[in-house]
Amino acid sequence: MTHTGLFISFEGIDGAGKSTHIDGLAQAFKAQGRHVTLTREPGGTPLAEKLRDLVLHDAMDPLTEALLIFAARRDHLQHVIEPALARGEVVLCDRFTDATFAYQGSGRGFDLAVLQQLEAWVQHTPNGLRQPDVTVWFELDPQVAAVRLAGARVPDRFEAQPVTFFEKVSQGYAERAGADPQRFVRLDAAQTREAVWQQLLEQLVQQGWLNP
Ligand code: TYD
Repeated sequence: MTHTGLFISFEGIDGAGKSTHIDGLAQAFKAQGRHVTLTREPGGTPLAEKLRDLVLHDAMDPLTEALLIFAARRDHLQHVIEPALARGEVVLCDRFTDATFAYQGSGRGFDLAVLQQLEAWVQHTPNGLRQPDVTVWFELDPQVAAVRLAGARVPDRFEAQPVTFFEKVSQGYAERAGADPQRFVRLDAAQTREAVWQQLLEQLVQQGWLNP
């Protein structure tokens, strides 16, 4: 049986708990006979992973940061995401462009018009702007996320930010979701892991992306 490609991104502030659910969903799609490409941003190709390392650990000005993230995204789209979608696979991507609007745009206060221009260039395809078909947004109070993250590991440049930064990031996600409500599946990430997982499955089944 041939399938049309399905592109799902996962978003939320640091500490919202995306990772285990992304792995779980990969298993669920595979169990239904789908081929799954599991990937992440920034990253997903050898070049983009090098850029990720720079973005997460080296000091740089906001424009450089945005350019490196979109350069990584371009490489990732060309070498991983577009070919996988063309093969009819399910692409599960841990973060995508909404993170750039939330972190660089709202969090850092970087010019949204510049981000929109970069988005238009980098995600351009002959069929229009490439966006995820679905974006799963793990929404969590930044105070709760901060408690979850405390002491978990050595923080990167973003995880080291204060709660006020993540309040702005959250606001950024809310704005992106408000602008494109059809694409977003919002989950209340303050619930137990099991309850979040159930919400995720229910919503994807309800919307017809996953078989019951
Ligand atoms: P994350 O996806 O949370 O991975 P890990 O679980 O390994 O920490 O980390 C990526 C970080 O990069 C996260 O703090 C958000 C940040 N980021 C941006 O600032 N802009 C972006 O466009 C993307 C994709 C991520």
